[in-house]
Amino acid sequence: MNSFPVTRLRRLRRSDTLRALVRETRLSLDDVVMPLFACPGEGVVLPVEGLDGIARRSVDEIVREATELAALGVRAVLLFGIPEEKDEEGSGAWEADGIVQRTLRALRTEVPGLTLMTDVCLCEYTSHGHCGVLSDGEVANDETLELLVRTASSHVEAGADVVAPSDMMDGRVAAIREALPHTPIIAYAAKYASSFYGPFREVADSTPSVGDRRGYQMDPANVREALRECALDLDEGADVLMVKPALAYLDVIRAVRERFDCPVAAYNVSGEYAMVKAAAAAGHLDERAAALESLVAIRRAGADFMFTYWAKDVARWL
Ligand code: PBG
Repeated sequence: MNSFPVTRLRRLRRSDTLRALVRETRLSLDDVVMPLFACPGEGVVLPVEGLDGIARRSVDEIVREATELAALGVRAVLLFGIPEEKDEEGSGAWEADGIVQRTLRALRTEVPGLTLMTDVCLCEYTSHGHCGVLSDGEVANDETLELLVRTASSHVEAGADVVAPSDMMDGRVAAIREALPHTPIIAYAAKYASSFYGPFREVADSTPSVGDRRGYQMDPANVREALRECALDLDEGADVLMVKPALAYLDVIRAVRERFDCPVAAYNVSGEYAMVKAAAAAGHLDERAAALESLVAIRRAGADFMFTYWAKDVARWL
């Protein structure tokens, strides 16, 4: 390779057109999924303060928001539910008339073109806030599987196109796959016990009342283990492998991308969104530029698509 002065890499940075021609990574509306939080009531919109992209909405307001998203060109949403009542088992997760199930039916008819994904987990529905049922103070893996299968099945019955198990129990993809042979499964395969879930837990009211999630979510220090999680989930029938969070785990996204040929997703989580929002509100950086840079970085690391609270803004920005 020639070196300076023959080689001058600045030559291709001299105009928007040249920069666009040689751009290696692109972000498009096809790459983003918007998370939405359904709650009981009517006319309810309760944002986490300062984070308008993260809000609880009653079913009618979800329909309104989803209609706007679809009109802007957002193609898929990920649904979470905050039930009226919680119990030890999290039975609200699989009720035929539960909050997510009602939302799915409403969206199915009111916003027919939108792809509907659901987060499959018990933590928003259990009184203790853990992602599975407790037995002797521990989250009981195998007893939880059946409840996750019920939940995923009830989502599909109500109109979900895709299910995304986020509980991190061992064997849950196999269990759901057996019950739902035709439904795409996006596995939260490498989901870390992260401190970046704060605003989410506020809106979803899912902070564990005792203990934490380190007994089932991954240690942030590990990447080889993430690849084992991914291999297992693929083997069990997952269609897409997800890494979560995204920005502090770009190396994990890259490692998963290099090892596996299936689609890879990433979850740009609530705390990552909140950091940029707070810095922008304080005047330290430009939200749009910082958000687009973050999302392109997630794509560059190897994610095919991502879950992000900026999905609606991306539709306006691009
Ligand atoms: C449910 C779940 C969580 C998130 C997605 N699914 C919270 C958690 O694991 O505690 C976090 C998403 C975010 O922070 O944006 N288990």
